[in-house]
Amino acid sequence: MPDPLERLARKALEQAYAPYSKFRVGAAIETADGRRFFGCNVENASFGLTVCAERNALAAAVAEGAREFTRVLIVTEQDPPAPPCGACRQVLIEFGRELEVTAMGRTETRRWTLGELLPEAFRFGAP
Ligand code: THU
Repeated sequence: MPDPLERLARKALEQAYAPYSKFRVGAAIETADGRRFFGCNVENASFGLTVCAERNALAAAVAEGAREFTRVLIVTEQDPPAPPCGACRQVLIEFGRELEVTAMGRTETRRWTLGELLPEAFRFGAP
């Protein structure tokens, strides 16, 4: 498996905490300066408190000071592969529309820019 971002996302998938949905998600995000961070979904008995893999990966990166991102890669075990949910799109787009988003399923891979997935995003105070 040549892509290190994919390797990280798959490692995260293995750690997914999804006892309720059984839907495991792993995500890994790469910074402009070549650093990589990862996260998995973490569910909760109070379902609404569940946090998605993409947001956990982003939070890990931001906590290390990262602010510029080039791509995020999401792995699930379904086809067609799952793109990020609406909430994650909004959280990711805080850091830019050009982010390349790759979703890998069991056998299929799909790719978009974040701007394609969330046109007309809300930006606080942006013109
Ligand atoms: N989930 C993610 O981790 N990322 C998404 O973009 C969509 C959904 C998780 C949340 C929950 O643990 C499970 O998938 C089913 O919704």
